[in-house]
Amino acid sequence: MSLGNDVVDLADPEARLDGLHPRFAERVFTPAEREALEASGDRHVLHWALWAAKESAYKALRRVEPRTIFAPRAFEVDLPGPPRGEASAAGRVRHGGHSLALQVSLRGGALHAMAWDLSGPLATTIRCAVGAAGSEPGADAQGLAARGIADALGLDPGEVRIVGRPPAAARGERPLDLVISLSHHGRYVAFAWAGLALSPESPSRPATAEVRTRPDPARARRAAKPRRLNTVAPR
Ligand SMILES: CC(C)(COP(=O)(O)OP(=O)(O)OC[C@H]1O[C@@H](n2cnc3c(N)ncnc32)[C@H](O)[C@@H]1OP(=O)(O)O)[C@@H](O)C(=O)NCCC(=O)NCCS
Repeated sequence: MSLGNDVVDLADPEARLDGLHPRFAERVFTPAEREALEASGDRHVLHWALWAAKESAYKALRRVEPRTIFAPRAFEVDLPGPPRGEASAAGRVRHGGHSLALQVSLRGGALHAMAWDLSGPLATTIRCAVGAAGSEPGADAQGLAARGIADALGLDPGEVRIVGRPPAAARGERPLDLVISLSHHGRYVAFAWAGLALSPESPSRPATAEVRTRPDPARARRAAKPRRLNTVAPR
């Protein structure tokens, strides 16, 4: 199991398409992606949706293949219907032999992408959230993640620490059995995380967005066992 996320502030000067290198699209997007851009009714949104999808997939794959490099054209994005209004769009990102699920959403000026791979024993629940950046976006993203995880697991936010690069979550000194990803750009911070399904009696409230993955009987049995919050070292 792995996941990655990326947020783009569409109103940030860095997101202006007329400020990019003239050959940016050629260098970064595959021929199929460039065709989709040419045909698109909203090139600005699709451009950054494709970019954020590639970054998300890169962050996810780095966890399973640490030698992965960010060569954007090697991440092939299939996003049949880019996000419109407040709706999310679903797609896939392929890289080498990997194929990752993709969700892209648009909330105000924040374009958020999350890519994940369900193989492996870990996750049955995936959540993500976008928040406002303050004066220290890196720390703000960590704070958003710590609060979201504490809220979902019924912990005190002060107990949850986000550490390392790529980031991992810990309760005090002990690693939590979760995969997390952070991002920040312009006015926004974002995080995504995946872990065992929360037990029904846990005092959880939904984060900004939630994706429930395919039910798997073996995982459901594991999830039904008492929750162990701090048992497995992050991979
Ligand atoms: C990881 C990377 C993709 C971040 O992307 P970004 O758009 O600049 O920044 P984002 O805000 O979206 O993400 C940054 C966060 O990602 C997380 N992160 C850092 N390294 C990470 C990694 N290897 N895997 C997953 N997440 C990582 C951190 O939480 C980081 O937050 P911080 O900067 O506050 O510590 C980028 O820094 C990177 O490593 N690029 C690829 C470099 C590369 O492959 N070069 C080879 C060229 S041949």
